[in-house]
Amino acid sequence: MSARLVDIIAGARPNFMKIAPIIRAFEARASRGGHLEYRLIHTGQHYDAKMSGDFFTQLGIPAPHINLEVGSGTQAEQTAAIMTRYEKVLLDRRSDICLVVGDVTSTMACAIAAQKLWVRVGHVEGGIRSGDWTMPEEINRMVTDSITNDFFTTSEVANANLRRAGVADDRIHFVGNTMIDTLLANMARLTPPAFFGELGLKVGEYFVLTLHRPNNVDGQSTLAPLLDAIGSGARGLPVVFPVHPRTAKTLKEIAGIPANIRFVDPQAYLEFNYLVKHAKAVITDSGGVTEETTVMGVPCMTLRTSTERPETVTMGTNELLGTRPEALAPAFSTLFSGAWKQGKIPPLWDGKTGPRIVEILERVLAA
Ligand code: UD1
Repeated sequence: MSARLVDIIAGARPNFMKIAPIIRAFEARASRGGHLEYRLIHTGQHYDAKMSGDFFTQLGIPAPHINLEVGSGTQAEQTAAIMTRYEKVLLDRRSDICLVVGDVTSTMACAIAAQKLWVRVGHVEGGIRSGDWTMPEEINRMVTDSITNDFFTTSEVANANLRRAGVADDRIHFVGNTMIDTLLANMARLTPPAFFGELGLKVGEYFVLTLHRPNNVDGQSTLAPLLDAIGSGARGLPVVFPVHPRTAKTLKEIAGIPANIRFVDPQAYLEFNYLVKHAKAVITDSGGVTEETTVMGVPCMTLRTSTERPETVTMGTNELLGTRPEALAPAFSTLFSGAWKQGKIPPLWDGKTGPRIVEILERVLAA
């Protein structure tokens, strides 16, 4: 059989840890004589070393075959640029499947461009839903899944969502979580960032904070009270805050931020997860971070009203607090009293998802 070509799409920071184990599995398979070839396509949605390049280096991801270099822009501008440029790539050489991961603008844009050229679409992390249409990621998930052929899912909840939407069982592949493959593969390599000693951080005696959702960070009237509540909730312990570029813009306008909140640059993968692993707790509005804290057994407070990853709450260490600052004080009290829930790891988050995906791709593309 002639080789089948799989496009692997990545564009923004949370994509890179999801593609790394898939690429590793492709290479392991190729060395044993598999018939799949892959083409790694970086859309360039994230382009800074801190948001992109460092992840390639640390996770051993090979240089992309193609970089669409779309750069910053509004969501519509980025979507249009990615579609236009990826369409050219496909017209130049069609792939047999376009494999997209996660829920960023690049995920949706490439899925549309591919399916319109009758190129099959596979979605890794398909089927999850927050139900919140104010999140751009939710729109990306819904659009992508509406034109996906093969779903690679992380949870039973995702499977149920897809079945409810009428997706046939033979298109749903419950494979687990590639982000967790990356975490487990790198657990022994996690390294303290250079500032760990400089800030006087002690294992189990500091917090990690990440905030980047437009709802939380685009206005100072929302962000400032949240930071006040986090600063006082932490009871004098340091709160390490790696600042996303979007958040940095609003922070510049806020005066009087609590002194125990310590701003640092966006961290590379090994440093960020070292910080998380050894934190007393994490406060976040990310989705992916709630999965990592669940696997590491670190308490997590999520500043959102919904989650597309409910198993981090029902099984893991995550609690959804909503976005009102008043919700933080009681959560910190529970934590400091030692009563935070223990949690367990969801099924198939076992570090073997990448090879499962490649095995299924071999099967479906041979059919
Ligand atoms: C995107 C994803 C979000 C993900 C997040 C992680 C979408 C809709 N959202 O949001 O799901 O959790 O990435 O970071 O795809 N910027 C830089 N350098 C970069 C990239 C961006 O300075 O390398 C700036 C942009 O100019 C912009 C801001 O950061 O001002 C936001 O970037 P953007 O790609 O629009 O979306 P994110 O908020 O990062």
